[in-house]
Amino acid sequence: MTTPASELEIPVIDVALEAADRDAHAEALRMAASQSWIARNLFGFTILHYDDVVAMLRDKRWHSAASRIMELQGVTDPVYLERRRTSILSAEGEEHTRLRRLVGTAFSPRAADRLRPFMRQVVDGLVDAVAPNGRADIAVDIGEPYPIPIICQLLGAPREDWKLFSRWATDVLRIFNGNLEHDLPIIAAAQDELDEYTRDLIAQRRSAPAEDLLTDLIAAEEAGDRLSEEELVMMVEAVLVAGTDTTRNQLGCSVAVFAEHPQQWALLAERPELAPRAVEESMRYLGAVRGTGRFASEDIVYNDVLFPAGTFIAPSMATANRDTSVFNDPDTFDITRQPARQPQLTFGSGIHFCLGAALARAELQEALPLLATRLPDLAVDGTVTWKPSTVGIFGPEHLPVTFTAGH
Ligand code: HEM
Repeated sequence: MTTPASELEIPVIDVALEAADRDAHAEALRMAASQSWIARNLFGFTILHYDDVVAMLRDKRWHSAASRIMELQGVTDPVYLERRRTSILSAEGEEHTRLRRLVGTAFSPRAADRLRPFMRQVVDGLVDAVAPNGRADIAVDIGEPYPIPIICQLLGAPREDWKLFSRWATDVLRIFNGNLEHDLPIIAAAQDELDEYTRDLIAQRRSAPAEDLLTDLIAAEEAGDRLSEEELVMMVEAVLVAGTDTTRNQLGCSVAVFAEHPQQWALLAERPELAPRAVEESMRYLGAVRGTGRFASEDIVYNDVLFPAGTFIAPSMATANRDTSVFNDPDTFDITRQPARQPQLTFGSGIHFCLGAALARAELQEALPLLATRLPDLAVDGTVTWKPSTVGIFGPEHLPVTFTAGH
């Protein structure tokens, strides 16, 4: 028998609690998950169990909520609604398949590996600045500055432009800050500047190809099909939006978890070959992307529940990552854990699975063992403050630590 979703008797997730207290919110989700695979939230429904999160993310009738982010935040001004263009993050169907096919190779693990020596150099430089002091704010001193040079190197933008990219990233990412009425003109200005900059860079790469992502994207061709100039500009913005705050917050989340597990930190320093497992395990244990959003593009029946067209769901990757049906002893953080039958879900699943996963993995796999070696005896020193977990991307705002100086 099919029950309309609105008639389900299920737990209710309190969004106010979400904003106020990370642990209380995680506990509320866990309690809900022990009772049901689905809970009600302010906008629709939260999906709590691993298998349902994956099944719903893989079902193409559920469309990304990225295209609705403005409406969901109450923007009605046609000037801004009309500026929107389709991004890979929000495209669906044939359009999305075509984009993924064209850009896939440019985001391959091999392409990411080219940047590993540069990643180590960047992290080393950031640690050099704090190592003699024996104390640092990991979020501010390491996490915040780390991804921008990598994205610039990836795109082939010169060092003198790092500051520009940093500002554009901050401004464009205001889209997630929940204050769009005030922020829209700032976001639009940053997008215009970035677009203009990218068009110049594309022109340069067309006449002088280089070993970078932009050159790969310009050259990308499948059966005579290519990305248009508009699509190239969109991809650069997607990389900046999706690839900076995620990486910096995941690094903060991962180091915060290690700071609570000093033996695991010492083990990683001793055995840097554990880096890939350390990355997957810390992303499972505390992921920077806690959940995502989808809406029903048509009436959908799933698990005998009818979700009418337009229904909003929030698959919770964070809760799924602690699902006992997939992970043994999920509340234990252990970088020597044997891989489970399924991967951790912080990069998502289905057609929108993180395009930059290989790059992000490389960034974290290079940073974590290097930090473990150079910041031994890491311990939290002071108050760790967290971004509210209602924002799309979650992590520590401040992570003050001490460590043994001089390594
Ligand atoms: C640890 C860091 C990262 C995390 C946790 C992360 C997480 C995610 C997640 C969960 C999604 C899917 C969202 C959804 O299904 O609604 C996604 C999509 C995406 N990510 Fe990442 N990401 C990270 C780093 C990066 C990097 C470094 C880049 C680019 C260089 C990137 C580019 C993208 C793009 C373009 C998409 C959209 C893919 C599509 O819609 O087809 N991400 N990411």
